[in-house]
Amino acid sequence: MTDLLGPSTGSPGPALPPVRASEGLRLGWIRRLWPVLAPQRGVVVTSFLVGLVSLSISVAVPTIVGVTIDDAIASTAQPLGPFLIALAVLAVARGVLSAGYRYGLYRTAYRVEVDLRTTLFRHYAGLSFSSFDRLQTGQLLSRAQSDVRSVQLYLAVAPLILTAIISFVLAIGVMLATSALLTLVAVIALPGVYAVGVALRNRLFPLSWIIQGRQAEVTGVVEESVAGVRVVQSCAAEDRQLRAMATAARRLRWANVEQGRIRARLAPLLENLPRIGSVLVLLVGGWLVIDGRLEIGAIVAFNAYIVLLQVPFRFLGFFLILGQRARASAERIFEILDEQPEITDPEVPLEPVARDGRIELRDVRFGYGDGPDLLRGVDLVVEAGETVAIVGATGSGKSTLARLLCRYYDPRSGAVLLDGVDLRDQTVEQVRRSVVVVPDEPFLFAASLLENLAYGRPDLVPGDDTVPDEILRAAEAVDAAGFVEAAAEGWSTPVGERGATLSGGQRQRLALGRALLVDPEVLVLDDATSAIDVQVEARIHRALTTIRANRTLVLIAHRLSTITLASRVVLLDDGVIVASGTHAELLAGVPRYREILASSVAEDHEPAVDADGGATP
Ligand SMILES: Nc1ncnc2c1ncn2[C@@H]1O[C@H](COP(=O)(O)OP(=O)(O)OP(=O)(O)O)[C@@H](O)[C@H]1O
Ligand SMILES: [Mg+2]
Repeated sequence: MTDLLGPSTGSPGPALPPVRASEGLRLGWIRRLWPVLAPQRGVVVTSFLVGLVSLSISVAVPTIVGVTIDDAIASTAQPLGPFLIALAVLAVARGVLSAGYRYGLYRTAYRVEVDLRTTLFRHYAGLSFSSFDRLQTGQLLSRAQSDVRSVQLYLAVAPLILTAIISFVLAIGVMLATSALLTLVAVIALPGVYAVGVALRNRLFPLSWIIQGRQAEVTGVVEESVAGVRVVQSCAAEDRQLRAMATAARRLRWANVEQGRIRARLAPLLENLPRIGSVLVLLVGGWLVIDGRLEIGAIVAFNAYIVLLQVPFRFLGFFLILGQRARASAERIFEILDEQPEITDPEVPLEPVARDGRIELRDVRFGYGDGPDLLRGVDLVVEAGETVAIVGATGSGKSTLARLLCRYYDPRSGAVLLDGVDLRDQTVEQVRRSVVVVPDEPFLFAASLLENLAYGRPDLVPGDDTVPDEILRAAEAVDAAGFVEAAAEGWSTPVGERGATLSGGQRQRLALGRALLVDPEVLVLDDATSAIDVQVEARIHRALTTIRANRTLVLIAHRLSTITLASRVVLLDDGVIVASGTHAELLAGVPRYREILASSVAEDHEPAVDADGGATP
């Protein structure tokens, strides 16, 4: 299935040029889907054979009806009974076979849907931060939902259309054998049906694209308003969000109504054109019968065949629309699959001589996307076991620096080394296990306290009610044991969506505990204790550095109390490290340090954000 992701995903090594969506289409988008389709081919072929038998019966029945009328009704050359029994048996057989055939195809289509969705999700999970900076959640959701669905629908319908076309060919054969003239008359309107179908398709295709995009827009607004409902309400911005939603919904409505308008105009034409064939068959057929050149049964048979003939032409339009839509969807899915992860494993990973958490940045330059350099030649060494605080004005790139340390991004030039080896030469997994960044606003899952704390160590989640010592120790270290015990259901207490039922400080302490359980050599706390009481913070820091002797700690802080916990402070200003020393040294010798402290670092006389943090001694 991984072939679907294009040639260079997953395999490290030199990146082959990505398969662009447009090229994939030129080759035929179905071909690119082949890896997900291939495992289903057994069921598909079987279903298809069953379908062929079923359709052969469909083609035979009108002729048998014709013969019945001629031989057992119009004349009484043969008894009617056996004909009726034969027709009944055929009807039942056809029903059973076509049920089996449809079931097989639908089942396959849904399997493909699951596989495709899994592939997409796996790809999402592997994408780099830079991709998520660009892509919108709503778009990603709609690609995983409606686009996958429309591909699935097409795959389910395509074989049905194929059998309809085969029936068409067989029926034409049988009809020609009866009367070439009447056959010609019967099919006379079909090119018209097809032409209308094509016109419909050409008008609907661009719209189907627009509709999918606008659906994603609506999803995006809803998703954002719900996720950000607290901000929305606190800013009394409900009306504004509502207007944004209404605008998106109106834009979607326009496209949908336009689609309806086109359908309303052309669909009745599409449906009624074939009836012209029926009238002509009656006219010409009647004349032939009166003339004695045709038997009456043939007219009845032909009328039934016209119904059969219409099917592919009527649904060809629908099918082509579905095809266009599925192609559009597939293109959008491929667009995501073509998005190459920028952060990949090296071909030959190198292992540092010792893993003890020494960090080195060598002339690191970095900026986001096409933007200017934010870091402009950062040189920094943090020795193993050292606690260093990074201070800088807001927006100076401290968090950015932290993201480079755990390789969320790669530098534009220069290098980040961990224990003497470039991060790009180590496996991503190893880097992320060695360096953990705890952000100031941690993300918690809508799960229990325990599951959130042990998220990085699922092996520790107990099957029964006993909580492993390792988890208890971590909770103790980050001062979370108190509020966990006080929580209504203890460790199993759910934390609400994104941890909504916890205080800021509690969330931060859970996130710290989560990082601690992974037990990395380097912990980077990006303002990760900003909502925790000062004394508690100091205690947590002590615990962090004693649980693992020689743990390297990088503190990014806006609080004086946090900064003074570090043995060394470095000052990041204008994209470079401009000073390094103890807090006292910098305070005494670097005027810029004093300036930045004054403007962006909080003195600790305001009350702590987390009220209960101080309550636990
Ligand atoms: N994902 C991103 N894409 C593009 N630009 C970004 C991204 N993240 C941050 N930036 C920009 O990079 C600059 C540095 O941001 P960063 O978050 O590193 O600052 P900071 O020093 O951590 O600030 P603060 O002290 O306020 O946390 C900012 O101007 C910000 O707008
Ligand atoms: Mg920051």
